[in-house]
Parts: sequence; structure tokens; C-alpha cells
Amino acid sequence: MDGLPFSDVRLIHRRGAIEILAAVDRSGRDVIIKRLVPERCRPDPLGVARFRREVAIHQTLHHPGVARCFGSGEGWLALELLQNGLDDPVRRPGFRQSSAVLTLLRDLAETLAYLHARGVIHADLKPAHIMFRGDRPVIIDFGIAALGSRDPIAGAEFAGSPRWMAAELIAGGLPSPASDVQALCAIGCWLLNGAPDCDEHAAAILERRLRSGNASEAEMTLPAGIDRQLARILEAGVGPQNLRPTAAQIVQLISRTTAG
Ligand SMILES: Nc1ncnc2c1ncn2[C@@H]1O[C@H](COP(=O)(O)OP(=O)(O)OP(=O)(O)O)[C@@H](O)[C@H]1O
Ligand SMILES: [Mg+2]
Repeated sequence: MDGLPFSDVRLIHRRGAIEILAAVDRSGRDVIIKRLVPERCRPDPLGVARFRREVAIHQTLHHPGVARCFGSGEGWLALELLQNGLDDPVRRPGFRQSSAVLTLLRDLAETLAYLHARGVIHADLKPAHIMFRGDRPVIIDFGIAALGSRDPIAGAEFAGSPRWMAAELIAGGLPSPASDVQALCAIGCWLLNGAPDCDEHAAAILERRLRSGNASEAEMTLPAGIDRQLARILEAGVGPQNLRPTAAQIVQLISRTTAG
């Protein structure tokens, strides 16, 4: 691939100037290459800056809950190949019970706590960005991740997935650790409610939420029999920003629940 050390390169996804390729590296390992092909689109300095930021973030992260980075260069990033994400209907029946959702939530909250302690806000947590290595949920796509006050392009553009975004982001606010927690808890509610598909367009969801001042897309009528501590965490997590637990607190609360 254009002088890069990969073979058997196959395109598996394309959106704008970003391509996702499956390939094999020199040691015979399956990898995913995420690359920016700026010439595919009209000039987009923000897209280039975002991709640079994504590569830089990946180079600093080393955690089992984040896709491993095997190498990077100008305009490309080689990542470990992960298995299908929570957006795949085949994956979801495994997450109907409180116990499975508690474990998933704990693992993801632990990863978010790691990110937040390093000043990284994912800002686009959604089912398609939660893939798996065996049983371990792994977060992908730091394409719009924010670095708080250190961020070179903070606030430059409204971005995210309206179905999973916190109310304060819909209202035009900046991403924060609390907005990642809201997305995480909205995903927990969605799983417990049978993970219904949604064919409403993102722009329509955004417009509806803007119009109605909708605080959360999460369906909070959880089915009977849900672990009460889990329900309390999820309710607080999709509630007002200042009352949400932190990711680290969610880990603690769940560890106490599962230990008791
Ligand atoms: N490490 C990985 N292992 C396996 N598949 C991956 C990996 N990274 C990305 N993919 C696949 O490529 C898709 C797009 O990746 P990603 O979300 O990082 O790119 P994107 O440019 O943000 O695309 P989109 O806007 O469509 O989400 C993922 O939803 C997933 O199906
Ligand atoms: Mg993505």
C-alpha cells in the first residue's frame, strides 16, 4: 500500500476522506488501517487536524479497553483487528441481563476513567464504537475525541451522534467527561430495553431533540427485575450533568454491587 509495510490490503469502510482497510503487517498479523485520503474530498483543514489529533491520542494510550495501535505515520494508523461491535444485532442478545450489562458497564467505565484521567474525552461513544477482543469491550474511533483546554481544535465544529449525545452537547456545549458518562449510560438503558434499532436519520433526531429540549434519548422505563443499583447508576448517568457519577465512581459502585 503506497510504500507502507502491509499486504493483502482490502477496503472495508469509507466515509469522506477516511478509509478503513483490512491488511496484514510484516509479521503476518491481521491489522486494521485507518487512513486519511485528503485528495478524495475538497480541502478540509479541520478533517486533517482531527486525523492528526486522533493519531497523536492513539500514540499515548495503552489500555486493554482501547484498540491497540501497532504503528502510525503521516495520514495512517494501524490498529489491532477487533470483533463485531454492539451495533451488530448478533452481539446484543448477550446483554439483556443485569449481570452482563453490569460487567460491560464496569469495563467501559474503567476505560473511560483511564481516558478522563489523561485528559481525553471520547465524545462519540455509541454501539458501533464498542467492539470486542474476546469478551473484552474495546473502544474505537477517537476521530472527534477532545483534549479539553489542550485541544488545538476544541469547539471548532458541532460533532457527535445525536442519538447518544448528552443534552448539553445538543444545546451546543463542549464535550466533557460527564457527556461520555451520559452516552455510556444511554447505551446501558438501550441494551436492557432490548436494543431496539432506530431508522430515524441523525439529522431528524437532532432536530427533534433541539425542538423538544429532550434531556436524554435513553428510554428510562427499564424492564422489571433489573438490579436496583444498576438502575440507579443508569438513571443518574442519563440525568442532569451535575448529578451524573464520574466514570471512576461507576466502577466503584459496580464493584461494590458485584462483590456483595
Ligand atoms: N480496530 C478495528 N477492528 C475492526 N473493525 C474496525 C476497527 N476500527 C474500525 N473498524 C470498522 O470500521 C468502522 C469505521 O471506523 P471508525 O468509526 O473508526 O471510522 P469513522 O471514520 O469514524 O467512520 P464512521 O463515521 O462511519 O463511524 C467501524 O464501525 C468498524 O466497523
Ligand atoms: Mg466512527
